[in-house]
Amino acid sequence: MNQENRPETDKNLPRRDGRNESLWQQSAGTDLHTTQQPETDTCDVLVVGAGITGLTAALLMQREGKKCIVCDAFQAGYGTTGGTTAHINTFADTTYAEVEQKFSEEASRQFAEAIARSVGTIHNLVTTYSIDCDFEWKDGYVYAEDEQETKELQDLYESALRAGVETEQVADAPAPLPYQAAVRFPKQAQFHPLKYIRGLQKEFLSLGGRVIENTLIDSVEKDGEYLIAKSGEREIKTKAVVYATHIPPGGINVLHMRNAPYRSYVIAATLKEDVYPEGLIYDSQDPYHYFRTHVIDGQKYLISGGHDHKTGHGDPEQSFADLIAYTSKCYPVDQVTTQWSSQYYVPSDGLPYIGHLPGTSDGIYAATGYNGNGMILGTVAAMVMSDLVVKGSSPYEKLFNPARVKPMGAFTEFIKENADVAGRFIADRFGIEEMESVKEIPADSGKLVEFQGQKLAVYRDKTGTVEALNPVCKHAGCIVNWNNSEKTWDCPCHGARYDQKGNVLTGPAREKLDRVAFPDLEAASAQKS
Ligand code: FES
Repeated sequence: MNQENRPETDKNLPRRDGRNESLWQQSAGTDLHTTQQPETDTCDVLVVGAGITGLTAALLMQREGKKCIVCDAFQAGYGTTGGTTAHINTFADTTYAEVEQKFSEEASRQFAEAIARSVGTIHNLVTTYSIDCDFEWKDGYVYAEDEQETKELQDLYESALRAGVETEQVADAPAPLPYQAAVRFPKQAQFHPLKYIRGLQKEFLSLGGRVIENTLIDSVEKDGEYLIAKSGEREIKTKAVVYATHIPPGGINVLHMRNAPYRSYVIAATLKEDVYPEGLIYDSQDPYHYFRTHVIDGQKYLISGGHDHKTGHGDPEQSFADLIAYTSKCYPVDQVTTQWSSQYYVPSDGLPYIGHLPGTSDGIYAATGYNGNGMILGTVAAMVMSDLVVKGSSPYEKLFNPARVKPMGAFTEFIKENADVAGRFIADRFGIEEMESVKEIPADSGKLVEFQGQKLAVYRDKTGTVEALNPVCKHAGCIVNWNNSEKTWDCPCHGARYDQKGNVLTGPAREKLDRVAFPDLEAASAQKS
């Protein structure tokens, strides 16, 4: 089911940044909405974003006596926390071998330590507050199917050991396909991400914290010893701001250049036989596939993910088709019950960026570049930013410093690749097809077209009503592309996403796409047809 087709009784279920509902969204219950206006709009810390990073940071800081307000442009779990596959691992997409190579062995050990602490923090929060979120410890298995993958897996294994991470080579991995080599990581975990953040939110509120939904922070400016955050007419006076928005919003920041947006695809499926995997399973392909099981209301689901591509590139519908076909090769799929996609940011040098937001006033923090490890690195980010605000320092502030410039080689290559991308998508505005009539656009679909000399992003709904937009992204001027699976306009440069009416769903853009007057378009179209 997609969000538009929900029965009226389910309208209070959490929403997310696209047409497709996640399994979590369908089963989170209705009490994730918790707007409670604060008595005063003055606080110690304003946290922007109510996903796992924001709510964990807010709870940690509130516990330390900081008076926090969380604002979300939509609602808790609306973004990637609502679309994750919720794996909790002691290893990351950036392997310890890569961290050793790009930084140092010491950096790799520190990275492993930060991750281990985040796993411990999640478990501690779940047990301390008895959060009912289906938390379960699991073994994780990574397997390799050919010689090249086996070599990379060996590097992963050896570097994990050097970093102090518990792992072992095994010959009995529960891989769904024949494999050459496999390693086991004990004490990984999984949970229901929206139930988890609902638990965080409940504790945060009980400690006097406040969450304000549907409130977009337009700007933050320094005013004496305070920062003034504006949302329309409203002003929130705060000593610190934590951007937990996945990528910092607003004008071009160096972090937009150091992270590339990707879409990841997920399905939940029932199987014809009870061969649901017990552990968390990962192959070593690029991009890799991953599988796990989750039980909701007594029904087991296989959760399978993969076929990622850069946002605004690739074909989302093809990615879903490929993922379903691949999963069916691995497991006896009976029915695909749910499919959804989600966004993540790949950092240029492999490590997340957490700390003071470059180019802004003191007291403004941000975190991004979690790769596909948002649950653990979002929690790491919350811990680091909480320490920076509360104690003024963190053991990991240097490792994750957003202003770091090393390693130059990787960074230069990354910048060049992304500059090429941006250039191509700006240049592409000159190669858009001429449209004769809006009827060329299939129902409930969108297309980039040229119409009477004007470049347009046109969506035509099921009844034939047309929404025409200027396709120039409000962040930095790239041309958006249509995502026919999520029914969104996605920007290929830094990942901003817009709905059919041009409203912002995902930053860094803050302003909606410009609307092009429809009557003109309709009249011109009628004349031609
Ligand atoms: Fe940066 Fe669109 S997100 S130009």
